[in-house]
Amino acid sequence: MNIDLDQYFTPPDLAEEVIRHSYKYDSCVVIDPTCGAGNLLSAACNVFQKVKCVGLDKDTVTIRKLRRCNPEWTLSAADLLCKVSCRNATATRMHNLEEGLLLLNPPFSHKNNKSVNAYYNGIHLKASVAMTYILRSFELFSPRRGGLAIVPESVLFSDTDAHARQLLLEANNIELVTELSSNTFLGARARSSVVKISPKRNPASSASFFLSEQRVGVKLNDPYEVVRGALPVYASLDEKDKEGVPYIHTTDLADLLEDQLDGVLRVDSNKKGKISGPVILLPRVGTPQEKLIKAISLPSEIHLSDCVLGLRFQTITAAKRAERLIKENFTEFETLYRGTGARYITLSRLTDWLTYSSK
Ligand SMILES: C[S@@+](CC[C@H](N)C(=O)[O-])C[C@H]1O[C@@H](n2cnc3c(N)ncnc32)[C@H](O)[C@@H]1O
Repeated sequence: MNIDLDQYFTPPDLAEEVIRHSYKYDSCVVIDPTCGAGNLLSAACNVFQKVKCVGLDKDTVTIRKLRRCNPEWTLSAADLLCKVSCRNATATRMHNLEEGLLLLNPPFSHKNNKSVNAYYNGIHLKASVAMTYILRSFELFSPRRGGLAIVPESVLFSDTDAHARQLLLEANNIELVTELSSNTFLGARARSSVVKISPKRNPASSASFFLSEQRVGVKLNDPYEVVRGALPVYASLDEKDKEGVPYIHTTDLADLLEDQLDGVLRVDSNKKGKISGPVILLPRVGTPQEKLIKAISLPSEIHLSDCVLGLRFQTITAAKRAERLIKENFTEFETLYRGTGARYITLSRLTDWLTYSSK
């Protein structure tokens, strides 16, 4: 397995199950633009009666092996992200590819980059690695039947991929097929989902609800401000100052609620994230605990770590009303924390939920 190429293949049973669940075709051209050992293509052969398989992969060894086992498939060793490489590949020059169905489980790994440069229908944008492959595949093959994609969970909800999602949604409906556990892929730990991307009959029609998910929210009427900490733990010691203000990381939230701040680090920092007054503090990263969600009145400033968010209110009564709303809807609130690895909440997901009324 070549880890640099993200060769984490789809388990055959899962591949067959999600294709069977999503499509009922007698015959079909199926295309996997990063086909690896061909597990998605093989699964399509088991599900549909008459199948023409088309596959690309950057790894020539993988493609050579796959050709030996499946001489009737059209396979090319090509780099999906390189236009010249794709142009020269037999697998992209066949007739009727636009009649095909895409089956995607692209590379997910970011290495050190949160986002990479992507290009879709004449637009330059930033997107995650996985989303870059999805955009490229849809642009290259323009499949009339759309496709099924295994994606890291962050592709569905992250701010990084917000622009790309919007572009895809202009022409497609996107529906969640299933969520996968983080140990689905041998050797990799990533929370992922399977989504069905289907071209809209009328692209001018209004966008479908992303993931068919209903928008939810609790309609908080009181004004509030969100304060996001910007000082990471690794840098907090550099800002240590006995005369400074308490530095509150996620692990200090319980002590803060108990007013036990003696052992807490004090900092003097220019970074954002200072807060005082009537507040509710929430973890930005990790999983929220209901017992730690509490309206408190901070008599003096504290400095939030980059893993903590603060909601600042005008009065403690307003903060208490917000605490009640969050606790009454805690199961829904927890679902705002998402992510391929560690779960996290984005500012837009939080404010959207607090502002929108679905009750
Ligand atoms: C996560 S694996 C999935 C393989 C297969 N689709 C499956 O579901 O089992 C990703 C595959 O993408 C291939 N790959 C990585 N970078 C690529 C690129 N730029 N162009 C084409 N294939 C690439 C890797 O060699 C690997 O086989």
